[in-house]
Amino acid sequence: MLISSELTKLPAHVAIIMDGNGRWARKRGLPRIMGHRAGVKTVRSTVRCARELGISVMTLYAFSQENWGRPPDEVGALMDLLVEYLRQELDEMLGNRISLRAIGDLQRLPEEARLVLKETIERTAGNSEMILNLALSYGGRSELARAARRLAEECLKGRLRPEEIDEDVLADRLYTSGLPDPDLLIRTSGEYRLSNFLLFQAAYSELYITPVLWPDFSREEFMKALEEYQKRERRFGLISQQHLSSCTARGS
Ligand code: IPE
Ligand code: IPE
Ligand code: MG
Repeated sequence: MLISSELTKLPAHVAIIMDGNGRWARKRGLPRIMGHRAGVKTVRSTVRCARELGISVMTLYAFSQENWGRPPDEVGALMDLLVEYLRQELDEMLGNRISLRAIGDLQRLPEEARLVLKETIERTAGNSEMILNLALSYGGRSELARAARRLAEECLKGRLRPEEIDEDVLADRLYTSGLPDPDLLIRTSGEYRLSNFLLFQAAYSELYITPVLWPDFSREEFMKALEEYQKRERRFGLISQQHLSSCTARGS
C-alpha cells in the first residue's frame, strides 16, 4: 500500500457516488437509516484522508434530485443526518481549513438544513486548503436545463450573444462554475451508472467502480482507487505520443 508521500499524480478533484448504504444495512438486518448513519462515518474518514493527501476538491453525491421520491421517513432521516453531520464537522472543517460548498437545488431542502448549510458555507468560506463540495438535491440534467435557461435570459437581456456561447460559457453557468472538472469519479457498491451525476463535468473523468458498499469504503479502499488512477493514461481523445508530448511541454 502506498503511503501519502509516495503518491504522485494525485487527482485535483475527486468526485464520489456514495452508494450502498441500504444494502449494507439489509445485510445486517438493520433499518436502512442505520446504513446511512454508517455512511456518514465513511464520509468523515474519506474527507480526512483526502485532506491529508492534499486533494484540492472533493465532491460527494449525498442526495440526488431523484432521491426525493424515496419514502418520506427515509428522506426525513437523511435530512436530519445532514444537519447533524454539518454541526459536528464545523470545528474539523475550520481546524483543517476546509471550505464547504454545495451544488444542487438547495431551495428544496428543509429550512433547518438550508440554514445550517448556509452558515457552514459562510463560516468556512475563507478556508483554502480543500473544497468539500456536497451534491444535495442534485441532478445533472436539471443543472444543464438551468444553465440553458440562464443563457437564454442573458441573451434576451442583450448581455450575451448566442454566438458567444461555447463550452466555457456554458460551464460557467453550472453549479460547479470555477471548479475544475473531476479527474477521478468513484462509485461504490458496484453499479455501472452515473445516476444523473455531473453529466457535463465528468466528460473525461477516470471512472473507478468498486463493489465495496459505501459504509465499508475504508481509507485502504480509497488509496486503492488513487493507485488505480495513477496507472491510467488520460489521452483526452489524442494518441499516446501526442498526449505524452503535451504533458512534457506542460511540465507535468
Ligand atoms: C446511497 O445509498 C445513499 C443515498 C442515495 C442517499 P443507498 O441508500 O442508495 O443504498 P442502496 O443503493 O439502497 O444500497
Ligand atoms: C445515487 O445513488 C445517488 C447518491 C449516491 C446520492 P442511487 O442509489 O440514488 O442511484 P440508483 O437509484 O442506484 O441509480
Ligand atoms: Mg443506491
